[in-house]
Amino acid sequence: MIEIKEIAASETWPLRHKVMWPNKPIDFVVLPNDTEGLHFGLFEKDILVSVVSLFIDGEEGQFRKFATDDYFQGRGYGTKLLNHLIVDAKKLNIKSLKCNARMTAIEFYQRFGMKVASDIVRKNGKDYVMMELDFEQ
Ligand SMILES: CC(C)(COP(=O)(O)OP(=O)(O)OC[C@H]1O[C@@H](n2cnc3c(N)ncnc32)[C@H](O)[C@@H]1OP(=O)(O)O)[C@@H](O)C(=O)NCCC(=O)NCCS
Repeated sequence: MIEIKEIAASETWPLRHKVMWPNKPIDFVVLPNDTEGLHFGLFEKDILVSVVSLFIDGEEGQFRKFATDDYFQGRGYGTKLLNHLIVDAKKLNIKSLKCNARMTAIEFYQRFGMKVASDIVRKNGKDYVMMELDFEQ
């Protein structure tokens, strides 16, 4: 059984760490504004398998630290979680949603209608592009 619900920032940290930055200390995945975010978790039979965090600035939303446990990747959980986040973002009257996408995730985000909106930026040894989804188009 799949359940998606809001969780505390601290509940996202172990998955963020394990999936995204396993070679850094866990503090590396704690965001300074984590307490201001909305954090969503997807549970399969009570196991937390995917997390994503939404930060709202006026009418603009940005999601960050989207991670599915490696063992559970490629099974549609990330798609379910991102669709859930998009529905909630629309309810919150957000007009556009953006993310800094790892190059490996660009195609995944394009399936949701997100478009590349910046040049490549290099940070912490990885390349990213900003991607955007305009809800009003
Ligand atoms: C990006 C990420 C969060 C996606 O989560 P996910 O749970 O694997 O997402 P999905 O399973 O919905 O989709 C991923 C792939 O599985 C495929 N898929 C979707 N539903 C599926 C299903 N029912 N059965 C099999 N495959 C499926 C998708 O087509 C997609 O294919 P791709 O490998 O060609 O991209 C995950 O890959 C991840 O954590 N990556 C590492 C961290 C990262 O890069 N995060 C994003 C930073 S910008």
